[in-house]
Amino acid sequence: QKAAERPLTAEEVSRAVGASVDGAERLMAACSGLQLVNTHQEHGQVCYSNTQQASAFLTRSSPTSLYQAVQFSSGTNYLCWHYLTDAVREGRNQYEKAFGITSEDFFQALYRSDEEMGKFMQLMNAIWNICGKDVITAFDLSPFKNICDLGGCSGALAKQCTSSYPECNVIIFDLSKVVQMSRKHFVTEADQRISFQEGDFFKDSLPEADLYILSRILHDWTDQRCIELLRRIHKACRSGGAVLVVEALLNQDGSGPLTAQLYSLNMLVQTEGRERTDAQYAALLAAAGFSSIQHRRTGKIYDAVLGYKQE
Ligand SMILES: C[S@@+](CC[C@H](N)C(=O)[O-])C[C@H]1O[C@@H](n2cnc3c(N)ncnc32)[C@H](O)[C@@H]1O
Repeated sequence: QKAAERPLTAEEVSRAVGASVDGAERLMAACSGLQLVNTHQEHGQVCYSNTQQASAFLTRSSPTSLYQAVQFSSGTNYLCWHYLTDAVREGRNQYEKAFGITSEDFFQALYRSDEEMGKFMQLMNAIWNICGKDVITAFDLSPFKNICDLGGCSGALAKQCTSSYPECNVIIFDLSKVVQMSRKHFVTEADQRISFQEGDFFKDSLPEADLYILSRILHDWTDQRCIELLRRIHKACRSGGAVLVVEALLNQDGSGPLTAQLYSLNMLVQTEGRERTDAQYAALLAAAGFSSIQHRRTGKIYDAVLGYKQE
C-alpha cells in the first residue's frame, strides 16, 4: 500500500510492516521479479514502487482490488490445495482433511462461520468489478425485464445488470444466511431495483422470471445435480425466457485456457464440480429442455452461455 505513495527502500518496507530487513529485501526482490514492483536507484539505494498492475489489483483501496480474493486464497484455497495429491487420487474435495469438517453439502463447510462466509462473499464480489460488465453485456439482455440471479451471493453481478439494463429488476436468490449478510453488508438501499429471496435452489420454489442467471453455480456441481437444477429453472421460467450461464469456458479439446484448467482443478479440491466446455454446458442445458443455445467468449476469465425456453 505504502509503495503506492512514494518509492520505498526494503528497509523502510521492513519498518512499516514490522519485518526483518533481510526478509523484506528478499521479498521485494522476488516481487520485482514477479513484476509486482518497479525498482529505482536513489542515492545509491534500491527503491521499490508498485507497478500499474499491482496498484490496480493488489492495493486495498483500488476499485478493482483483488485483496480479498488473495486473502481467501491464502486462508482457504491453499489449505485445500495442500491435499491436491489426495484429491487427484480420490477424485473428490478435501474439505474434511483441510478443515476437519464432514458435510454432505460443501457449502455448509465453506460457511462454517459468519466470518468465513463473509470472506467467501468478498471473494465472489471482487472479480465482478473487473469483468462483470463483460459477461453481462456479452449478450443483449435488454428484452429481459425480470431477472433472477440464482446463488446471487453478494449482488455484484446483479448491480452490473441494473446498471447495464436500466429497465430490469433483479431478484437475488440465495441461502438464508447469505441473503442476510448480503442485505446487511453488500447491497444498499440505493440499489432499489435489487430484491432478495431466501431459499435452497434444489428444494424450494424458484421465483418466476424471464431470465435466470447462474453465475459460477454449475461449476460447483456434478452433471446430474446441474441437470436437476436446470430442470427446476426450466419449469419456473416464463415461455420465451432464458437462462444465462456465466463460467470460465474450457476450450473444446481441453487445451486451455490455463486459468480455466487451474480452476477445474480448484473445483476438484473444493467442490463436487468442474469447469466445462461450451458444448458440455450446451448438453446440460439441452437435457433440461432449453434450446437455441449459444455461447460468447469475452476474452477475459469468464464467458457466457445463453439458452431459451421455447414460447
Ligand atoms: C460460487 S458462488 C457464486 C456466487 C455468484 N453467483 C458469483 O458468481 O459471484 C455459489 C453461490 O451459490 C449459493 N448456493 C449454494 N448452494 C445453494 C443452494 N442450495 N440454494 C441457493 N443458493 C446456493 C452460495 O451461497 C453462493 O452464493
